[in-house]
Amino acid sequence: MKKKQIEEKYNNYINLFKKYNNYYYNKNKSVVSDREFDELKLKIIHLEEKYNYLKSTDSPKNIVGHRPSKNFKKVFHKVPMLSLSNAFTEEDLLNFEKKILNYLSKNHNHPITYATEPKIDGISASLTYKNGKLVTGLSRGDGNEGEDITANLSTIEDIPKEIDSKDFPEEIDIRGEVFIKNSDFEKLKEKFANPRNAASGSLRQKNSEDTKKIPLKFIAYTFGYEKGLKANNQFDFLNQLSKWGFNTNPLNKLITGVKNLVKNYNEIEKKRADLDFDIDGMVYKINDFSIQKRLGYVANAPRWAIAHKFSSNKAVSKIIDIDIQIGRTGALTPVAKIKPINIGGVVVSNATLHNEDEINRKDIRIGDTVTLERAGDVIPHILSVDFKKRPKKSLKFIFPNKCPSCGSKTIKEYNKLTKKKDAVRRCSSEGYYCDKIAIEKLKHFISKDAFNIDGLGKKIIEGFWKLKLIKFPYDIFKLDYDKIEKLEGWGQLSVENLKYSINQKKNISLERFIFALGIRHIGLENAKLLSKHFVSFSNFQNLSKKSNYDDLLNIDGIGETQVNSIKSFFANDINTKVLKELEKYLFINNASVKQKNGILNNKSFLVTGKLNGMSRAEIKSLIEENSGTTVSSVSNKLDYLITGEKPTKRKVENAKQLNIKIINQNQFLDMLNKTS
Ligand code: IVH
Repeated sequence: MKKKQIEEKYNNYINLFKKYNNYYYNKNKSVVSDREFDELKLKIIHLEEKYNYLKSTDSPKNIVGHRPSKNFKKVFHKVPMLSLSNAFTEEDLLNFEKKILNYLSKNHNHPITYATEPKIDGISASLTYKNGKLVTGLSRGDGNEGEDITANLSTIEDIPKEIDSKDFPEEIDIRGEVFIKNSDFEKLKEKFANPRNAASGSLRQKNSEDTKKIPLKFIAYTFGYEKGLKANNQFDFLNQLSKWGFNTNPLNKLITGVKNLVKNYNEIEKKRADLDFDIDGMVYKINDFSIQKRLGYVANAPRWAIAHKFSSNKAVSKIIDIDIQIGRTGALTPVAKIKPINIGGVVVSNATLHNEDEINRKDIRIGDTVTLERAGDVIPHILSVDFKKRPKKSLKFIFPNKCPSCGSKTIKEYNKLTKKKDAVRRCSSEGYYCDKIAIEKLKHFISKDAFNIDGLGKKIIEGFWKLKLIKFPYDIFKLDYDKIEKLEGWGQLSVENLKYSINQKKNISLERFIFALGIRHIGLENAKLLSKHFVSFSNFQNLSKKSNYDDLLNIDGIGETQVNSIKSFFANDINTKVLKELEKYLFINNASVKQKNGILNNKSFLVTGKLNGMSRAEIKSLIEENSGTTVSSVSNKLDYLITGEKPTKRKVENAKQLNIKIINQNQFLDMLNKTS
């Protein structure tokens, strides 16, 4: 890479880092996961280490947290509030210890004892006490300069305002974490993404009366400046803190050796779901203050402490219940309702269980303790069950054999292709009989690739359904606007807008219309194929009068599964009624008919075997561009069978028997060249 490119890359990283920091500290929003954030920091530091000309005042090396916001008075910390370096694996911990032993010039098996403390995921604060009285409370700010949030911090009950204890130092900054308990967060979850953001937002209220309304908690764990502290090690200090009236973490422990640190880490990770506060790892501090002093600091973190972070996309929690959701095609999808847990900054309370087979395979039950994984924006899923923690009276989960919405029998279909029963169980009702299916069908009807009506989203569909304003798709086009105008949240203008956008979408292409019907196995691509085949709505609708659907099999891309599905769609009277009604309100455009003047006009083709340097899709569009058609099987309607490498023998035999012209790829291309 050239110098310019390296600088560009570096600046991009720095800008991202600044942006994430700003969101995190000033807007109380995490726009990336903690792990991504840490990785970005590492990338910047690595670049700086490799190319020493890269420098920025906004580098993570110079910034701890973020500059204080403008709302509060800024005050310098007498002793900076530092951050911690991170460890993710046992190997990271071994390296950490090795460096320390080297620094202290000790043998590699010299035992080191650590004060271990859960790393609460909250907001750190520094409380200055002079002669036993709380005088100032600061946020961390950029580590050097914090915000004076004394008034807000004073509203927290856990924070002693006055300490009357003989051994309390003359002056000391007590530092710890402000946080919200998960059970209290329940009431605030509409406003904030996670408890950490809620705590941060509450601490930054301009008016301390607003902070007072939020049940903030405080746990103390370290100190900054001190005069007169009588403690020789961290664990003694923690005990003193609790004697002076501060809350300390009940899970704090003294542990010697990396193996034992890891054991404790694993135990606490399992307990994580049962705790009423979020923790994102463990903090290990060398217990002995004299050793801490010798080790000192690097950049903005102490050499004597490290944060052992939990994996950012996995967590353990409990299944409270198993819900069955019903989709548009009647598929029953089990969803685990889990005890809310923070996974990488997102509070997760649902996990997909996929289907009945998945539940059986993993033997997932209500009450189980499970490990969950969240990757990207997809719904989290369950990785494993901790059978040791299973309650004694737990019962196997029985998948419902009746639809929870309409009571119809649920069935598992036989899949001819796999020669097995489907993993998915479905409600066997037809059409709009089942309420849940009907709502999902309506949601599909207005979805992006279907009617896509501005201002008519899924939530509104649900609302209108509950008020019995709609049941069938055609109801959308005969809405009672007077009634809607009187509903909460609606007014003259919004109703006018809705009316306008619905009217606009009355004009629709045949392919969108077919897709909107939500016929099983007819997605956008198949809807396009059908639309090309039928050209007009009336041709499509006439299917209801037909008893034989076999000619649909000639459409390249449409198979038996799709044809059977179309057949059962038309066999249902409700569906044919829906079509008839919709026709009254809509203008369904014919599919554009291809010009019939191409070289291959009136000629049909089928390809078998692998082509040379050309995909199936390419040859298909080549045929269509020249006004030919493609079909999917050998019949007397076929004009040419194009054979590539390793053609299907049966197709070639059949074509021979029916006297169909068999040509290879070059002969086909010649057909195009010759006449052009
Ligand atoms: S000690 C020099 N102890 O983690 C020591 N920090 O990245 C610095 N935290 O800013 C802090 N629990 O917000 C310490 N038991 C604990 C902690 C803890 C949570 C947070 C704190 C700090 C950050 C370090």
